[in-house]
Amino acid sequence: MGESTIKKTGGLADVVAGDSAICTCGIAGKGLQYRGYEIHDLAKEAVFEEVAWLLLREELPRRQELEQYRQRLRALREIPAGLKTALELIPGETQPMDVLRTGCSLLGNFEPEFSAADPLRTADRLLASFSSMLLYWYHFHHSGKRISLVTDEKTLAGNFFYLLNGKKPSPDHEHCLDVSLILYAEHEFNASTFTARTITSTRSDFYSAVTGAIGALRGPLHGGANEAAMALIQQYSDTEEVEKGIREKLANKELIMGFGHRVYTISDPRSDIIKGWAKKISVGHQNQHFYPIAERIEKVMWAEKKIFPNLDFYSALVYHYCGIPTELFTPLFVISRISGWAAHIIEQRKNNKLIRPTSHYIGPEPRKYIPLAAR
Ligand code: SDX
Repeated sequence: MGESTIKKTGGLADVVAGDSAICTCGIAGKGLQYRGYEIHDLAKEAVFEEVAWLLLREELPRRQELEQYRQRLRALREIPAGLKTALELIPGETQPMDVLRTGCSLLGNFEPEFSAADPLRTADRLLASFSSMLLYWYHFHHSGKRISLVTDEKTLAGNFFYLLNGKKPSPDHEHCLDVSLILYAEHEFNASTFTARTITSTRSDFYSAVTGAIGALRGPLHGGANEAAMALIQQYSDTEEVEKGIREKLANKELIMGFGHRVYTISDPRSDIIKGWAKKISVGHQNQHFYPIAERIEKVMWAEKKIFPNLDFYSALVYHYCGIPTELFTPLFVISRISGWAAHIIEQRKNNKLIRPTSHYIGPEPRKYIPLAAR
């Protein structure tokens, strides 16, 4: 492989790594679509469970199917007693993403996937139980309680809030979390999804693929950026500070978290949707001033670098305004993205070929072995 090719494909940028019928991302004239449905329509009209069904089962559910699906997911929320015991043993100071990574792997021990198993069952099980694992562990260590995982909440978003706060969320909070889950659900061959597909391509099991994907998502260049974006916004107390602070960071070649994207060049089509929600629910919040601070960061980034916010930037603000602790932001990405990962695992299995690229060798020329005694 020639050097210019290598340069161009650093980090596999612009490399088409396989066929997929799940999502278009950054294709001119198509924008972001899940199975042909435009993201703005889904965020406006659909609910998250409907989108998860669409991703996993390829078509939108009928009313009755959606109702039954929600009931099915509700019934899958409880987790094995042994998993609860294990979650209690994980230290309280552990990163919540590590808890989900371990929780996913352990569930694979309690409920292993058999060769004849229906992968949709495993997908639904993980979709329904990630909030349970996360918040069971969270409360055991942070409030000293073994919370019940049985709630009357119909939606995954409502259930997340109920498990977190022990009470129903406001309709606005439930709605905007639902929208954010829709936006986070799927995004083509991003790093974590590609990890899941690579693991799947070895004919490994579902849980291994998802556990690996969680590990990939955890990093701040990928899903971890929403927590880092919140930390950035919180550094400033007014917009004047932002002007100076962001310019200084850029001069020091620091990355501004929640900005930029590998595929998009002008904007992330999900960003304005979630930004609208951030603006709406900022009103009356004690940290209402974070919204103009975030907008000013956006303005400076565009003026200085022509770099735009990605989904993670204003999602961070939405979660903050919903009262969600920052360390649970990236786990919420998992709680949603399991729908996309699972769709890709199923698709990879349908037409599997081992994923195994080659490397461009840049090491030493052949040399003679030096015996241990002579070194
Ligand atoms: C997600 O792939 C997906 O689809 C991911 C995702 C999904 O839904 O799955 O959309 C979710 O992961 C969103 C991205 C979250 N990450 C961040 O917000 C971290 C900050 N962003 C960047 O590090 C960066 O923009 C990436 C990682 C998102 C993309 O990196 P690339 O494509 O490898 O681009 P690059 O790092 O080579 O940047 C190109 C130039 C560089 O400048 P030069 O060296 O050419 O002078 O742009 C600059 C970069 O320094 N740049 C930034 C920047 N992002 C790019 N400079 C400052 N701050 C930034 N955020």
